[in-house]
Amino acid sequence: MPIVWRDAMAVGAADLDADHKRLLALLNASEKAVGEQALEVGARLFELVADYAQTHFQREEVFMLSSGFSGYERHKRLHRAMTEEARQLWRGYLSAGEDKARLPHLVSLRDMLNRWLTEHVLGEDMQLKALTGKRARAAAPSGAPPVAPKEVLSRQVEVQKTADVVYDLPPEFAHLLQPFSCKVPELPPPESDFTRFEDLCQAAIRHRIERVLVFFQRGNPEVRRALPPPFLASAEFAGKFHAAVAQLILPAILSSRQIKMMSTNIDCTGLDTDSFWEVLPPILKDHILACWRAAWDDLRLLPGKKADGTRIWQVKEETRALRALLEPSDPAAYDLPRIANREIDLFTSLLDTVTDWWGQLNRCWDIVEDIYEQEKDPRIFQDKARVGALRDNLLAAFETFPEQWGDFLVLACHRMFPRISSLFLERFTHNVGHNEAERELHLPYTVRYLRQVRAHPDIRAEEEREEEAWQAEMEQLRLYLKGRSAAS
Ligand SMILES: [Fe+2]
Ligand SMILES: [Fe+2]
Repeated sequence: MPIVWRDAMAVGAADLDADHKRLLALLNASEKAVGEQALEVGARLFELVADYAQTHFQREEVFMLSSGFSGYERHKRLHRAMTEEARQLWRGYLSAGEDKARLPHLVSLRDMLNRWLTEHVLGEDMQLKALTGKRARAAAPSGAPPVAPKEVLSRQVEVQKTADVVYDLPPEFAHLLQPFSCKVPELPPPESDFTRFEDLCQAAIRHRIERVLVFFQRGNPEVRRALPPPFLASAEFAGKFHAAVAQLILPAILSSRQIKMMSTNIDCTGLDTDSFWEVLPPILKDHILACWRAAWDDLRLLPGKKADGTRIWQVKEETRALRALLEPSDPAAYDLPRIANREIDLFTSLLDTVTDWWGQLNRCWDIVEDIYEQEKDPRIFQDKARVGALRDNLLAAFETFPEQWGDFLVLACHRMFPRISSLFLERFTHNVGHNEAERELHLPYTVRYLRQVRAHPDIRAEEEREEEAWQAEMEQLRLYLKGRSAAS
């Protein structure tokens, strides 16, 4: 059923709303094309989407700049990522060759436009609503002639350059104004050329889990941490986890009679480990997920009692095998707790056959990175975030993802950002409980990490030295800038 425009979708700027209506029309057209398998309109749709991205995003960015929107930089980055996403889909569509192989790409286009509407227009763009009212009020009495978008853009860029950061520091200070940057691991490309459903399904499950694990593997070579990374953050763990899944979980999924029956209608030709999820009927997705959860449930420890009445947890043979499979080759490779039910819950959360978390995790991280720079390292940006903004943002992010991932988001900040010390972690955990036992319920791995920090007092001492050095450098920079502005 086509989606109909409603007033609540409007941001209040006529040209932007007209563009958003155009997006809705494109979404409806792609839905129709998918439903009717009308591949002859595919190429035209991709062209129109590229045109939409180019013209609308620029128009919206001009609007944001001319309205003084504080989230401009971040929003622009989202637009860049969306443009790139559309470009890649188009490339995939063109290289797919024959009509039948192009259908999954058309499905991806429809899903992408759906996300653009529901997450971006109805989520991100809605922040502009507050500006349109303000702007209308401010513009009403002046009657100034409208300015062409390109003109506004160049003027604003000019204004920004003069109002923003000092670029011509002498060489001894130049390193102090290096913007934060670091490399993050890249996703492996999707695999293709499968002929059997079982092989494709197995690889697609692995690939989807990989999209979460790779996200958590981000680290910063310039940030040295004395303790080993938590297990979810290590590439070695990822390899061992995939092997454990292949041995202990996948056989239960692939031998399910219902999956075998339902999968006979799926033609694997032309599908890859990404497009697999796009063509899979919802009932089959649900069934794979149910089997995945049941297989992990089978590994749970069971409550029992000894002859003397003492309560114990009974560990099954398979769970012992899982523990052995995940053991790091070297204790310094990653920190692995004893696998128990809490870990089984975490492993279960790593696969979602309906939601592909990769995009959402990265969008969340873009914001976290921005706020880190603004609050904790405000050397480049004039827009300073208030104290506590990073903490609040992380707490809000916990609501978006499976609850077991909160720990790893916080620990990823610690591994990426120089000024997110163990003291920050310590204070952060105080938001989720009054005492250590309560905090451990919500952030078990962070609390575990902090216990290890406490056992090595030199870690805290080193962090304090680094913080002092940072403050001293900032003081040098402040004095230099002060002296310079006094001289000018
Ligand atoms: Fe928009
Ligand atoms: Fe936008």
